[in-house]
Amino acid sequence: MSRCRYTVLTAALTAFLPLTLAAQTPSPLANLARTPPMGWNSWNKFACNVNEELIRETADAMVASGMRDAGYQFVVIDDCWQIARDSTGTIVADPERFPSGIKALADYVHSKGLKFGLYSDAGLLTCQRRPGSRGYEFQDARTYAAWGVDYLKYDWCAHGTQNAEASYRLMRRALDQAGRPIVFSICEWGSNKPWLWARGIGHLWRTTGDITACFDCDQHGYGFARILDMQVGLGTFAGPGGWNDPDMLEVGNEGLTAVESRAHFSLWAILAAPLMAGNDLRSMTAETRDIMTNREVIAVNQDSLGRQGRKVRDDGDLEVWVRELADGSRAVALFNRSATAAEIAVRWPEIGYPASLEARVRDLWKHRDVDRARGAYQATVPAHAVVMVRITP
Ligand code: GLA
Repeated sequence: MSRCRYTVLTAALTAFLPLTLAAQTPSPLANLARTPPMGWNSWNKFACNVNEELIRETADAMVASGMRDAGYQFVVIDDCWQIARDSTGTIVADPERFPSGIKALADYVHSKGLKFGLYSDAGLLTCQRRPGSRGYEFQDARTYAAWGVDYLKYDWCAHGTQNAEASYRLMRRALDQAGRPIVFSICEWGSNKPWLWARGIGHLWRTTGDITACFDCDQHGYGFARILDMQVGLGTFAGPGGWNDPDMLEVGNEGLTAVESRAHFSLWAILAAPLMAGNDLRSMTAETRDIMTNREVIAVNQDSLGRQGRKVRDDGDLEVWVRELADGSRAVALFNRSATAAEIAVRWPEIGYPASLEARVRDLWKHRDVDRARGAYQATVPAHAVVMVRITP
């Protein structure tokens, strides 16, 4: 081989080597969110009224209430923590509301054995007109990593003519390069069918517009029953590492009764939805705490098979939802949307069991076995309620 050809060959190999290595180096974002993320986010209850005291007290309450031990991890500040960029382009937190700075706050949250999250936007401005990350993706990702951020919710306001997939992929690359494992929450409201492209970019993707604390209204956001309707057909896109996100919980917020909150929580568990509490953890009632820390329902949500549940029957106001679980059992939600109590039955063939099979039926809200049933199970379901059972052959 002539010296010249040798040099060209070596140069070509050297040029490709980093590419090959880069392709082999697993992204720091890989292997996160193998089950749906669990935590708390400030938006549903506090909107722009956020400050460092609230976040510290929320972290304290997450521990004291038993939520951390039940699996909740992330404490996420939504919109309005940021106020400007400095002369170097670095994002600046509101100094009046966060006088100790974001790094100190993240350290505090970490000291409680929890993880810390922030919010930004793929466009020029956030939905509350704070600076967005457009044009600053790599710089922001480096800042978040330096602060100790573990979770980023990334919104879609002021996006102009931006392409959604490209915009989210860009931030994904920025997070990869920043080198810290950060759960990436895509929030573009389902506008561009993210379930078709977001796996491998983000770990969860919103499927709808914003939720609001009501049963099935659709003014200033959707009630949870309406959002549930919009999840039909999306189940096959969810699984370990990438989840449909029907939006954060309204459990415990004014506008929902305890019965409705229980139904909402049960259905989000069946949907393999992220469980991001959206209430004031510092002052919640024991009833709300008990809903949010129901370990049997959380176990359904966090089931390792990672298969999203689906609606198997729709008799108008009476619905049956089922989720297959890793041990071969089924979680079933009997959902009564009507204003009066009703009988709802689930039949074994609807959930993939032969009619002759005998199975144990455990009520996940009563915390006891309620039947050994063959072929079907039937229960009286109060208005706007869910009866949630686990059926084990
Ligand atoms: C959008 C999102 C909400 C919340 C607000 C904040 O509406 O969908 O979840 O983050 O912006 O401004």
